Amino acid sequence: MTTATATKGLEGIIAGDTQICSVEQGALIYRGYEIHDLAQHATFEEVAHVLLVGHKPDAKELQFFKDELIANRALPTQVVDFLHAAGPMLREGTAVPMDVLRTAVSILGNMDKESQSNSAEANLRKAKRLTAKIPTIIGHMQTIIDGKELVAPNTGGDAKLSHAANLLYLMSGKKPSTEFAHVVDVSLILYAEHDYNASTFASRVISATLSDMHGAVTGAIAALKGPLHGGANEAAMEMLREIRADIGPANDPAKIEAWMHKAFADKRKLMGFGHRVYKNGDHRAPILHGLGRKIAEGRGPEFVRLFELGEKVEKIMLDEKQIHPNVDFPCGMTYFVMDIPVPQYTPIFVASRITGWCAHIMEQHANNRLIRPIANYTGPKLKKWNG
Ligand code: CMC
Repeated sequence: MTTATATKGLEGIIAGDTQICSVEQGALIYRGYEIHDLAQHATFEEVAHVLLVGHKPDAKELQFFKDELIANRALPTQVVDFLHAAGPMLREGTAVPMDVLRTAVSILGNMDKESQSNSAEANLRKAKRLTAKIPTIIGHMQTIIDGKELVAPNTGGDAKLSHAANLLYLMSGKKPSTEFAHVVDVSLILYAEHDYNASTFASRVISATLSDMHGAVTGAIAALKGPLHGGANEAAMEMLREIRADIGPANDPAKIEAWMHKAFADKRKLMGFGHRVYKNGDHRAPILHGLGRKIAEGRGPEFVRLFELGEKVEKIMLDEKQIHPNVDFPCGMTYFVMDIPVPQYTPIFVASRITGWCAHIMEQHANNRLIRPIANYTGPKLKKWNG
């Protein structure tokens, strides 16, 4: 029996080494590149190459990588059939898009010829296939929810479109504007990697048993779904909708303050706020906020009012609780002003974080030791079964 005390939530515990990402209050860095630099100058495909292959691609490597992604976008018919079968489950609410995406990824594993190989080469090929196919799963799922024809089912989209633009195209059947595609691209860059966050850690625990990549990603999707993690981008937008429904169409400061004070009195967790590491603000949040607000300004006063409401909520949280928004708060508003359906916000997070997860799964497999901490037993004292 151990006498050591546990650290709740493993706060501050260094659980392993990584060369992929550094998350600190001072900077967020992917393999040596700082996040503002990447958001301003890189594309998601370049960042995915940095994370998965390990270095910044030259022009030829980038073209090759993009071509591989495009070639792998289409889904096997079995996955498309499953998405059709999931339509009623989504409509009845026994499943949400994150659940359906999780199962679709698991089926992809069942069908992947290299599913049982953990070699570095097979893992990289599987990582690219997953990165290519996840937007198609999301897109097809959304068109099934909307009762429309699947967009480009044989090709998984339009080969001329970037990863981000193609994701929007697959979901809506409309080619997005350059601005919308750019903002989604930046959001994918910001979401791509974050060291030992809960879902990535889950993927490393699974892969450290020498289980396979699709299994580790399936587990990671389940972890990301929770509203304390990736599910917060949907939950943040739902909270803003709730505030709007309660206070009415105008941003009356007194009503917003009253709503917030009631939330504080009820000890409510406000979604899209707080972070285990960033206690003085999340590097990613202002980048996305600025881009989302610009879209809102282009779309008109009704959309700007949403951002103004969010800004007021942020100010009250900061002034009264000293808690900053995390990336999920502006993400919720940004995706909303682009008309992206709320239940797809966390699946879109998956379309990005798949690159970080796969990089970590590969890093774990390359230098593995079983991850098996110990628990501090707090149960009953020893007793006899018979008397
Ligand atoms: N609303 C209200 N109070 C909060 C919040 C919040 N969102 N976040 C932290 N606090 C309070 C918390 O109650 C605690 O107060 P006290 O000391 O009085 O008990 C104090 O701030 C310290 O927080 P903590 O519970 O120690 O924080 P944690 O590191 O355990 O949890 C968190 C981090 C992200 C789970 C938490 O801040 C939270 O639940 N936030 C809302 C969900 C959310 O936005 N998640 C997204 C995380 S970031 C990106 C991602 O993963 O997608």
